[in-house]
Amino acid sequence: MTEDLLRFDKVAKHYTTESGQSVTALQSVSFSLPAAKTVAIVGRSGSGKSTLLHLAAGIDTPTAGDVSFAGMRLQSMPDRQRSHLRRRSIGQIFQFFHLLGHLSIEDNVLLPAYIAGGKRRDYAKRAEQLLRQVRLEKRGRDLVRHLSGGEMQRVAICRALLMSPRLLLADEPTGNLDDESSAEVMDLVYDLAAEASMALMVVTHSEEIARRADETWHLHSGLLETA
Ligand SMILES: Nc1ncnc2c1ncn2[C@@H]1O[C@H](COP(=O)(O)OP(=O)(O)OP(=O)(O)O)[C@@H](O)[C@H]1O
Ligand SMILES: [Mg+2]
Repeated sequence: MTEDLLRFDKVAKHYTTESGQSVTALQSVSFSLPAAKTVAIVGRSGSGKSTLLHLAAGIDTPTAGDVSFAGMRLQSMPDRQRSHLRRRSIGQIFQFFHLLGHLSIEDNVLLPAYIAGGKRRDYAKRAEQLLRQVRLEKRGRDLVRHLSGGEMQRVAICRALLMSPRLLLADEPTGNLDDESSAEVMDLVYDLAAEASMALMVVTHSEEIARRADETWHLHSGLLETA
């Protein structure tokens, strides 16, 4: 039997906007994602893709239903424990990279270790090894703000993988890149996820990227259709 890494049980998310309107972002979403499975999430703008990833990462809480990670219900965890889990077990990659431009490549990659209270020397080797895998090992001391978009995303991949997470969440990771850089970034994401037996959920508008995942799931107005 494969263990469920991430599980949604009848998860709904409603937002109340500034003008007092209620917006339904997700309605009764249920799925289980086994360890090492890769899934592409596709759907129109506003269909709830980013909301789903935020709930999976525990950075937002559902209005109804349960989200569990490795059998633990996220909403029942004390904040400290949920933050700890997020920092150690879940990696995230974003469309606009979210790197700190005034810091070096190395320090950006090491950021999750600093935040988790780790020491630089305990993670320096891992950071270097990851940078080698994305062919940026010679650039470690350079500032991030001088990099190209594709290079920035490769740094962001290293940062997401530093703590050896069990789940990698990627929200349109190539949405801001040209075709060639997109292909290179996605090769890295899929290869590194496979190598580490990580589960991967990638939100994408690209059929080509979706095709490489084990399954493609569709979101329509907050309703999820799994394969
Ligand atoms: N914080 C918020 N407050 C109010 N409404 C929100 C909030 N976040 C998201 N929404 C609404 O929830 C719905 C789903 O948003 P979400 O960002 O998940 O869509 P998406 O599928 O990621 O879209 P895109 O492809 O454009 O990124 C949208 O109608 C959006 O306006
Ligand atoms: Mg989105």
